[in-house]
Amino acid sequence: MFKENTLSGKTIIITGGGSGLGFYMAKALVGVGANVAICGRRENVLQSAIKELLNLGGKAKYYVLDVRNYEDVANVFKQIIADFGSFDGLINNAAGNFLSAAEEISPNGFKTVVDIVLHGTFNCSQQAGKHWIATKGSGAILNIVTTYTETGCAFVLPSACAKAGVYALTNTLAYEWAAYNIRVNSIAPGPFPTEGAWSRLMPGDSFETTYLSKLPTKRYGRPEELTNLVVFLMSDMAPYITGECVTIDGGERLSAGMFNYMASQMPRENLKAAFAAMRNPKK
Ligand code: COA
Repeated sequence: MFKENTLSGKTIIITGGGSGLGFYMAKALVGVGANVAICGRRENVLQSAIKELLNLGGKAKYYVLDVRNYEDVANVFKQIIADFGSFDGLINNAAGNFLSAAEEISPNGFKTVVDIVLHGTFNCSQQAGKHWIATKGSGAILNIVTTYTETGCAFVLPSACAKAGVYALTNTLAYEWAAYNIRVNSIAPGPFPTEGAWSRLMPGDSFETTYLSKLPTKRYGRPEELTNLVVFLMSDMAPYITGECVTIDGGERLSAGMFNYMASQMPRENLKAAFAAMRNPKK
């Protein structure tokens, strides 16, 4: 579906692009010809990421940035425009999260995650929108949300609140900025393990075994499964898609139904035998 030049001539900004899924996205985008500007807080991480991206043959630069700081975001976006001439896409991927009982989160703990996820997404999206509107350009914003934006999720209260805000921001801007040829979409990834995420969100091996057994696919998502979707949504193949949230989770979010749970926990033949016995109780 994608060619080496699918995104050639496009420059894409990726927040949190130096590690984890953001870095996978950067590599995939470079692989189809895009220039990438990766932003993150840790310079050493960004430096080694850039080395790899340049080895892939891409035009890539890094920018030390904490998306919580509006002035810094404005300055970095100005610098990106100076370095690349302009930019065509923004992926709001930078996030913060940790596991904690709601009653134990400090006000600053709550604020920190909401600042990174929601305010950071606003800060970057507004800078991108201002640039495209002022230059009469067009652009695509992609926000990384989660599968719990609608349902909420125990033990990640700040993230659940912030991601729900980002979901609302996505749809609001999609409508408001459609007039300026700016598309705004989101992706809700399910379990795509990375070192950063799993060290914060996976409490231990036994939990992981139970969790995996609950997944209908019995496996996690693979990075390339996510990055294929990212490339598609950032490309000119998706010009009429805006205000959409694409879930990519192997069906994980559907596990709430009682019978879905049965299907995930019992061998299928045993289940079928149990159903047959219920249908013909005397046999
Ligand atoms: N449980 C409860 N509270 C926590 C916490 C945890 N595991 N980790 C941090 N906090 C609290 C801190 O105690 C502090 O609150 P306080 O001042 O009341 O003590 C507040 O959160 C800010 O923590 P701090 O470490 O100073 O912030 P930071 O900006 O350096 O780090 C985090 C931000 C906490 C989100 C950190 O996990 C991070 O940098 N994450 C980035 C990567 C990430 O989380 N990606 C998402 C992967 S799923």
